Amino acid sequence: MAQKIIDFGIIGCGLMGREFASAVARWAHLSDPKTGQGPGFLPRIVAVCDVNPQVMNWYTDNFESVRLATTDYHELLADPEIDAIYCAIPHNLHAQFYVDIIEAGKHLLGEKPFGIDKAANEQINAAIEANPDVLVRCSSEFPFYPGAYRITQWIMEGRFGKIIEVEAGFWHSSDLNPQKPINWKRMIEINGEYGCMGDLGMHVVHVPFRAGWFPQNVRALLSNIMTERPDKEGRMVPCETWDNAILACEVEAGGQQFPMVLSTKRIAPGEMDTWFIRVLGTEFSAEFSTKYPRTLRYLPYTPGGPQAWHVEDIGYKSAYPTITGGIFEFGLSDAILQMWAAFCDELVNGREGMQQPFYCATPEEAARSHDLFTAALESQATGQTVAL
Ligand SMILES: NC(=O)c1ccc[n+]([C@@H]2O[C@H](COP(=O)([O-])OP(=O)(O)OC[C@H]3O[C@@H](n4cnc5c(N)ncnc54)[C@H](O)[C@@H]3O)[C@@H](O)[C@H]2O)c1
Repeated sequence: MAQKIIDFGIIGCGLMGREFASAVARWAHLSDPKTGQGPGFLPRIVAVCDVNPQVMNWYTDNFESVRLATTDYHELLADPEIDAIYCAIPHNLHAQFYVDIIEAGKHLLGEKPFGIDKAANEQINAAIEANPDVLVRCSSEFPFYPGAYRITQWIMEGRFGKIIEVEAGFWHSSDLNPQKPINWKRMIEINGEYGCMGDLGMHVVHVPFRAGWFPQNVRALLSNIMTERPDKEGRMVPCETWDNAILACEVEAGGQQFPMVLSTKRIAPGEMDTWFIRVLGTEFSAEFSTKYPRTLRYLPYTPGGPQAWHVEDIGYKSAYPTITGGIFEFGLSDAILQMWAAFCDELVNGREGMQQPFYCATPEEAARSHDLFTAALESQATGQTVAL
């Protein structure tokens, strides 16, 4: 079958750049075993850019399609044969790089938080508005886990009845170790004032915001638990970013008012990359956590009936069909592959023509996350509930 090839450049060849490239390397995975058909679009990595030339060797060693490796991202933007860019760089560079990419007419999947702060995010949004033909989406892969995907379907179908409450979070634990050396994600000037919210928060708000559950207000409890960390030489230096954030929000949506608690934590003992969502409703409740990646819990309820949680191992039921057997396990790299398929699908077929309905996080959703995190900083500073 003829495939639409999308020529990609990667800017920022670190942790996430490699994940995208690895997803591209196994694109054949996206094939329906019943029909033998792939999705009809194929990303091809033709150029890479990083200030550190060493990290580009992995790409040039493993991808014959890479014909340009440079330390200057402007070379990618000047290349007329590059259709789209994946940009995964530190937060303090988002505004400048994303604006330049968009103004060069390249489609962009950018990493969150889409600007180091609200002012940076507004610069990016202004560039998007001025270039409406460019597709811009924000990376957020967790809703593509089969359990999360199913909950999103249930939300869209209105299965929950009256919403009682919503809780979503993203928790890590490695920062419990006081000897863990500081890196850029723990430095305000590079990661931003949002701290753990900027780093983890877009993942947490993606499904609630897609459901139309926007906070009306927020009372934030932010903690800086480890106030210093060793640098590379072992000297203790200040570590000023927020480690943990608990955001208690009120939501009004669809004529209902309900509480929503969103949390991002770098110090949640025992948790390693745990993303979760729990939605409780009068007719249906459901929860999913990446801690138990194959398991979905849900509780259908009719008045007077039993209240019994169903625990279902849902296996590998992905948004886009793959060669993987339905009983096998789904993981983060699968979620990344699925997210990439959604981006390419929307690029090639448009929102209405997508092969499945869940599209990547939008700049509007990223902008809402900035409104929330900015209000959360104010709430922490004043001790007050802040209206949004
Ligand atoms: N979606 C996710 O699950 C997820 C996970 C981790 C990080 N992220 C996001 O991805 C982005 C990058 O994070 P990471 O963990 O890959 O970081 P990283 O530090 O591993 O990689 C960033 C790369 O950018 C390069 N870089 C820095 N300045 C540059 C410049 N001027 N020009 C070109 N390259 C430059 C660095 O040399 C480095 O290789 C951040 O926005 C982060 O929030 C997303």
